[in-house]
Amino acid sequence: MVISLVAAAQVAAAGKPLRVGFAQTGAESAWRTANTNSMKSEAEKRGIELKFADGQGKQENQIRAIRSFVAQRVDAIVLAPIVETGWDPVLREAKRAGIPVILTDRSIQTADESLYVCFIGSDFYEEGRMAADWVARAVNGQGNIIELQGTPGSAPANERRRAFADGIAKHPGLKIIDSQSGDFRRAGGKEVMEAMLKKHGRAINIVYAHNDDMALGATLAIEEAGLKPGRDIIMVSIDGIKEAIQAIIDGRLNCTVECNPMFGPKVYDTIERLKRGEKVERKAYNKDLLFDATNAREMIASREY
Ligand code: AHR
Repeated sequence: MVISLVAAAQVAAAGKPLRVGFAQTGAESAWRTANTNSMKSEAEKRGIELKFADGQGKQENQIRAIRSFVAQRVDAIVLAPIVETGWDPVLREAKRAGIPVILTDRSIQTADESLYVCFIGSDFYEEGRMAADWVARAVNGQGNIIELQGTPGSAPANERRRAFADGIAKHPGLKIIDSQSGDFRRAGGKEVMEAMLKKHGRAINIVYAHNDDMALGATLAIEEAGLKPGRDIIMVSIDGIKEAIQAIIDGRLNCTVECNPMFGPKVYDTIERLKRGEKVERKAYNKDLLFDATNAREMIASREY
């Protein structure tokens, strides 16, 4: 009798939906919305109970969300960390509770690599390198660059900045004349660009934005200043959202390097494998493409985000 009750409990446990807590950064960009949608729709498809927490751009909100996931004893925690540092104490709490943590999209700096199981996302350094190479070729290694940075302290801002600087260092004629954060937001990109145009005027030849939303915001500022983005100022960014590819077709943007946000399926595959006791890859990177005038038209129809 006792044995059959245990078996029944095991069957019930096996039939229980997975409970996953997802601490998202916020809703700062079109990329982020696509990422959230991918995580939510894939959870629904698989019958996974997703507890979604919007961090609203604040690390303390994400930390609070993780603590509540630990208290609810979820099966796994997915974290898209807004910044790179300051996670060890809360991740230690998750580890002590035996809850695996999967980092998605952004990585962290930690003294203890055992605090998370794996990372799933893009190689931000590679994206910045691709953008720098494209710029160097497009302008023949000559020009003054304005850089619109993402959220200070975030992995994509740090890596895209470092990679781009390394990439253009090979071309002494390319110079970053100013660099400021627009926080990955469209309004931020517009505001910073307005200030840059006032300060540097026609000395600006190129804009390198750490994401499409800031680049699209900057195009509005450039147009309001009576200039043509994409022609008077070369515009390069990262993400590859549909609107950016359309802007390339319209001649207002010149290049965007893809950063694929649709990794809901990969994340839940990983969690399901962990639950079956299987090994998972420590770092799984998406393969990112580059879009410019040579391929934007053929890519736009199939773009999901
Ligand atoms: O971490 C990925 C970055 O965050 C994307 O490039 C940006 O659009 C987002 O907000």
